[in-house]
Amino acid sequence: MQSKFWPDQIIRLIEQLGISHPIIQAPMAGGPSTPELVAAVSNAGGLGSIGAGYLSPEQIEAGIRKVKELTKRPFSVNLFIPEISNTVEPDDKVLKKLEEFSIELGVGPPEVPGPPKYTFEDQLAVILDNDVPVFSFTFGVPEERLMKKLLERGIAVIGTATCVEEGVLLQEAGCTAIVAQGSEAGGHRGTFQATAGTPMIGGLALVPQLVDEVRIPVIASGGIMDGRGIVASLSLGASAVQMGTAFLSCVEAAVPGPWLDSLLSSKDTSTVLTNAFSGKYARGIKNRFIEEMSSLENEIPHYPLQNSLSRPLRNAAKEKGDRDFMSLWAGQGVAMSRKCTAKELIDMLVSESCDVLERLLVP
Ligand SMILES: Cc1cc2nc3c(=O)[nH]c(=O)nc-3n(C[C@H](O)[C@H](O)[C@H](O)COP(=O)(O)O)c2cc1C
Repeated sequence: MQSKFWPDQIIRLIEQLGISHPIIQAPMAGGPSTPELVAAVSNAGGLGSIGAGYLSPEQIEAGIRKVKELTKRPFSVNLFIPEISNTVEPDDKVLKKLEEFSIELGVGPPEVPGPPKYTFEDQLAVILDNDVPVFSFTFGVPEERLMKKLLERGIAVIGTATCVEEGVLLQEAGCTAIVAQGSEAGGHRGTFQATAGTPMIGGLALVPQLVDEVRIPVIASGGIMDGRGIVASLSLGASAVQMGTAFLSCVEAAVPGPWLDSLLSSKDTSTVLTNAFSGKYARGIKNRFIEEMSSLENEIPHYPLQNSLSRPLRNAAKEKGDRDFMSLWAGQGVAMSRKCTAKELIDMLVSESCDVLERLLVP
């Protein structure tokens, strides 16, 4: 993209991150953001991101090593800030429904998981020790002493906000930049501030309000699929965009066939918000599991318990290629998905953005 068009705030952020284009491939935990995807995006001038939220410290280290083999350019690693689940015992009706599905899919009954084998700090230690240029996170704010360690090592730190109040907290914590996650976004809502309720603010309204309130760069996210979405976001005052769904249909992403087919055949009304898979609200393409669990919405145990309970079902569905029980995460722009390589996508995004800018600027 031609920098002559860019306001200073965009240049500042891309220089700080060491990238050529203000385009970040969203971290996508659970498989899609493979080292190949991350490196291809970074090699094409964007910022590739490893979605490491569900990975063990050993897996994170291996992922970082692989990305570094494939690119010499900056990339980011993303983690989930841990939450204390206030649900200890799952609801009987939810368990019964999950058991019915388990029988249908031929997997064992859902089991309440034991204590985790590693902590958030174990995961973060890998990032601190492996010369990672950018760390991003969602679902909360790291403790002050951990933020201090990250910033002391010169790591750029990017947090996720779904409302202005959360953005201000991230700025106060010392973040380098903030992802403004609009309600159009695919995957989990990053909401973490209980007083904010359940913010469902669209990106068009959220980005400028956050830009007005904070001094650090804001990165627009949610429903951005092409050059029009990028230029619109930059016009709202964003310094960059973070795109998830658009990268899911790249050949380097690890997305099982039924999910990919659903991405490529969806329309504007195909996605819904659901807490059925994980106990935390997330946007994905409607399927039987979401529909049949919806009557139990208020009984579903909170994240991460429901996520563990539904995991055997999701894994079995993935193995069998059964879209009815897979979490088909996608944002509201899914119908604009394109099947191509990550480099082709970045090149198209850059050239489309330039075209839109020229059309807007040249009388
Ligand atoms: C499949 C998928 C997985 C995601 N996983 C993560 C994650 O691990 N960490 C994170 O911060 N955001 C995650 N997100 C949310 C993205 O950061 C971003 O907010 C979202 O993709 C933007 O909306 P879009 O998908 O419409 O581009 C995920 C999104 C998708 C679609």
